Amino acid sequence: MSTTKKMLAITASATLMLGLAACSSEREETPASTGTGSAAAADAMIGIAMPTRSLERWNNDGTHLETLLKDAGYQTSLQYADNKVEEQIKQIENMVNQGAKILVVAAIDGEALAPALDAAAAAGIDVIAYDRLINGTDAIDYYATFDNEKVGNLQGEFIVEQLGLEGTDETFNLEPFAGSPDDNNARFFFKGAWDVLSPYVEDGTLVVPSGKAPETLDDWKVIGIQGWESAKAQAEMDNRLNSFYTGDEKVDVVLSPNDSLALGIESSLEAANYTPGEDWPLVTGQDADQANVQNMLADKQAMTVWKDTRTLGDQVAKMVDQMLKGEEVEVNDTETYDNGKKVVPSYLLPPQVVTKDTVEELLVKSEFYSASDLGL
Ligand code: BGC
Repeated sequence: MSTTKKMLAITASATLMLGLAACSSEREETPASTGTGSAAAADAMIGIAMPTRSLERWNNDGTHLETLLKDAGYQTSLQYADNKVEEQIKQIENMVNQGAKILVVAAIDGEALAPALDAAAAAGIDVIAYDRLINGTDAIDYYATFDNEKVGNLQGEFIVEQLGLEGTDETFNLEPFAGSPDDNNARFFFKGAWDVLSPYVEDGTLVVPSGKAPETLDDWKVIGIQGWESAKAQAEMDNRLNSFYTGDEKVDVVLSPNDSLALGIESSLEAANYTPGEDWPLVTGQDADQANVQNMLADKQAMTVWKDTRTLGDQVAKMVDQMLKGEEVEVNDTETYDNGKKVVPSYLLPPQVVTKDTVEELLVKSEFYSASDLGL
């Protein structure tokens, strides 16, 4: 079975169990199921709080989840907070006042939502943390995400394999970046990559000319890019190139935790006259954003870690349904995600590497993108 088929088969079996007819292996919308859940569904309002419209993935996440829930007969309130924490808190408070039964929250700041969610819990509302864990509150009932540490592992392992780091006498210039310091995921991404890469930094195979390698894992925030902003990543890369790559020195590899950072880094490399196919460094990413997939096809980005956000929406819709029907909620990890108040029962989905060579097989055949979206 091809990977794509396997993936579709997994989605299909999940769909059968779901009883929510809305997600199908063909990714077509079908009418909502009736049955025991329909009475509850008729009254239940689900609040969906997303961080920002400025990143492609959150638009897809929000729309997909909203569609699934609406097709299953639930009411929804989908809100985006322009990456502003206060805005997101207000939106959550409104959802509570509107009588939401469940909140699905992709937090902007993993620490700041505790009071608002404590109030939601006091009003009897259940909460699912979506993609990003929310810390410091026991109001979080479940967490659904992709295996965040695995995302970093895949980036690190890709670098090791592509550069042939194992047993080599060569040295390579690495510039590492990390994600937004207020995003709980960012530490997991960095840890996953750094566990793989740091032995090569310690033995001198990977050299960091800018010195911007955290001394310990706990110092990762020193290289974090606030708000995951492309422009900030670009400015940081400009600084590093201008200050530490004078003369003949060239960057060989950039650890970028996601695609929005990679995009800024790639613009910086372009401005510094790096040439794809010649001296362009290996750049990693995550999310398979359209612009980055196009950059992969143009040899400006070596890989991205794809998280099929449709499967996350499918899983969360299923959890919502199970919660409202009082059924057992499916989780597959009860150890990893301690938010300081409790270990939050989680469902982790598998992330997957995509390269230029597998764009067609993975992203187009699964209809994540059409060939024309990507200029193919
Ligand atoms: C998500 C990534 C995303 C990043 C920036 C993270 O929490 O897991 O997929 O690239 O936020 O939005």
